[in-house]
Amino acid sequence: MTEPSWERVDAFFESHLVPPDPVLEACLRASEAARLPSIQVSPSQGKLLHLLARAIGARRILEVGTLGGYSTIWLARALPEDGHLISLELDPRHAEVARANLRRAGLESRVEVRVGPAIESLPKLAEEGGAPFDLVFIDADKPSTRAYFEWAERLSRPGALIVVDNVVRRGELANAASADPNVLGMRAFVESLTNDPAVTATGIQTVGRKGYDGFLLARVEAERTRGREPRSAGSSPGNRRRAR
Ligand code: SAH
Ligand code: DHB
Ligand code: MG
Repeated sequence: MTEPSWERVDAFFESHLVPPDPVLEACLRASEAARLPSIQVSPSQGKLLHLLARAIGARRILEVGTLGGYSTIWLARALPEDGHLISLELDPRHAEVARANLRRAGLESRVEVRVGPAIESLPKLAEEGGAPFDLVFIDADKPSTRAYFEWAERLSRPGALIVVDNVVRRGELANAASADPNVLGMRAFVESLTNDPAVTATGIQTVGRKGYDGFLLARVEAERTRGREPRSAGSSPGNRRRAR
């Protein structure tokens, strides 16, 4: 076998479900020309982010970790004309490439790339007191994930979605002996959600172009419903009614 079957399956999905897109292709070419690392979400993952944003009618999106703006374009394209996306990026060079890519995508009026350590940009966002976010995509330095997630919860409306990339790390997530700071960061992050009534969360493993990894999806709960995890069949009012 020349390539793992999951790469061929990703290519098959893309050939039927993700039509060729000159803007996204130019974004990847420009990122490569500028020697940015090729670690952006895959086309199918980008489209998943886009679909999640559309599914909840997101009007305000926050991204932590812009790189060349590939995931940013997928997300921003889900916004209505008056929607807004703020993307936080540490590296000014990455931000520059991303801004050019977003301009080419015709998204500059809807997207703002803020340069600096996200851990400093996030409290500033809170101080500004803008409208809460409907969706947050966390995809930056992995050891800081837990801190970013806490800010994401704080900056989001009830019902908002938080997506966290690269949680599984080739399965190392389940290796309690790992000394990799990225793995330690993700383990501490997942552990921090144990019995957290503020969010309802799940972890999904993925294979594909980017190998074996996975993401975590969380819904921010309203104060008053916090702690309401799905009940077993038969015990929830909805199920009881249907069973009769
Ligand atoms: N979301 C992008 C990929 C992001 S890669 C996509 O899928 O297209 C991770 C990015 O996070 C890199 O550009 C890196 O420079 C940035 N980053 C790393 N540490 C950061 C920090 N402390 N604050 C903000 N961004 C950071
Ligand atoms: C890495 C970072 C990412 O955001 C990703 O999706 C894949 C790999 C990394 O730092 O290696
Ligand atoms: Mg990632």
